[in-house]
Amino acid sequence: MRILVVGSGGREHALVWKLSQSKLVDKIFCAPGNAGISQEAECIEIRPEDISRLKDFARKEKVDLTVVGPEAPLAQGIVDEFNNYKLRIFGPSRSASFLEASKVFAKELMAKYNVPTADFKVFDEPDGAKRYIKKIGTPCVVKADGLAQGKGVVVARTPDEAYQAVKSIMEEQIFGEAGRRLIIEECLEGQEASIIAITDGRTVIPLASSQDHKRVFDYDRGPNTGGMGAYSPAPIVTEGVFGEVLEKIIYRIIDGLAKEGIEYIGALYAGIMLTSEGPKVLEFNVRFGDPETQAILPRLKSDLAEVLFATTESRLWRYKNLDWDGRACVCVVVASGGYPGKYEKGKEIIGLEEVAKMKDIIIFHAGTKRLLPTTQQSTVRYLTDGGRVLGVAGLGEDIRSAIDRTYQAVEKIRFEGMHYRRDIGRKAITEFIL
Ligand code: AMP
Ligand code: GLY
Repeated sequence: MRILVVGSGGREHALVWKLSQSKLVDKIFCAPGNAGISQEAECIEIRPEDISRLKDFARKEKVDLTVVGPEAPLAQGIVDEFNNYKLRIFGPSRSASFLEASKVFAKELMAKYNVPTADFKVFDEPDGAKRYIKKIGTPCVVKADGLAQGKGVVVARTPDEAYQAVKSIMEEQIFGEAGRRLIIEECLEGQEASIIAITDGRTVIPLASSQDHKRVFDYDRGPNTGGMGAYSPAPIVTEGVFGEVLEKIIYRIIDGLAKEGIEYIGALYAGIMLTSEGPKVLEFNVRFGDPETQAILPRLKSDLAEVLFATTESRLWRYKNLDWDGRACVCVVVASGGYPGKYEKGKEIIGLEEVAKMKDIIIFHAGTKRLLPTTQQSTVRYLTDGGRVLGVAGLGEDIRSAIDRTYQAVEKIRFEGMHYRRDIGRKAITEFIL
């Protein structure tokens, strides 16, 4: 089988890494990939949003299966376009992708089909939004409707913060069209977890639970990022909670979409808050999570290529359950100095070779670039090329040993300005003990 993976982050490296272990896979391409991915796949210089060129490439290279990492091409209709050309692709259609691309669409669908989520109201002009904030008070959450690279959500602790969020989204239009409408919703309290499932529209197979760490600094302080680390499984997602999330959230939303005439095929990610009233949805994503995937896939024993291929052929019923490694996995994201704000690129990364030799450690590259050997320099060198640079994943008998092993590896890596959280996975231990 010839596979094309679309995207360039740690999530895509984890997908390529796992897919390359399949006996069914002969060749993997990645568009555009990164330095780590280029060790396992042939990277091609096509942007994920360049759907027309990706389609031409898949036709020319006789790609049997395309797997899409990020949301942007999904929201732009890459799946519909590939289907028009009878090219097999794993991911939801453009209309199904609205579940992530429009928070208003997602919230209204949840309300209609009784999927538990925070109470909310939709606004298309700032004055009404501000009056509503005054009425409900703070804390409250202000969300831009459209895609804003994870930056369109403000958890406002004071009215001023909430008014400022409305102003930036609607008056200053910092997210452009994505902020034409906004949502103000009730602030939920509790622990967050991520539940990702794969579905062909009929059968739904959940992946192992996980937890992301969105804030940049330890103890969940500082601004939100794309995710600073993850672990799997999340002990707070007990069997009971897991069942409830599937029944009341995942199945209901897929059924709801079907009733609206929209078939959902692909990975469906539910970001959940575990509140005292049970699990409630914070957001849906129409793809695998990043960095959750880097902590989940090292634990997957089943053949991912087989499962994703079966999904595109409506044959998922054959795989009722996936086979999981019982060990825990922790992934620590190593970021550039300044991230999630301004950062510099091009810093040489030291220590990768030493870490590569460590048992049960996998290095997933995100923002990296490779310098090939020259007459002056005999070895390949790796440079930073993005905000999130690497995801270092480690397996351990339990979460505690996975944490220890992963940080032993992270400590061997160095580059100028590098920073990472030192508390990834700690919540799993305290929650477990409490
Ligand atoms: P979202 O992109 O909608 O998941 O929001 C990003 C982050 O904002 C979430 O991971 C939560 O930490 C926080 N958040 C979003 N909605 C709420 C809410 N209703 N109550 C509390 N926190 C929220
Ligand atoms: N980890 C959050 C996301 O993938 O959106």
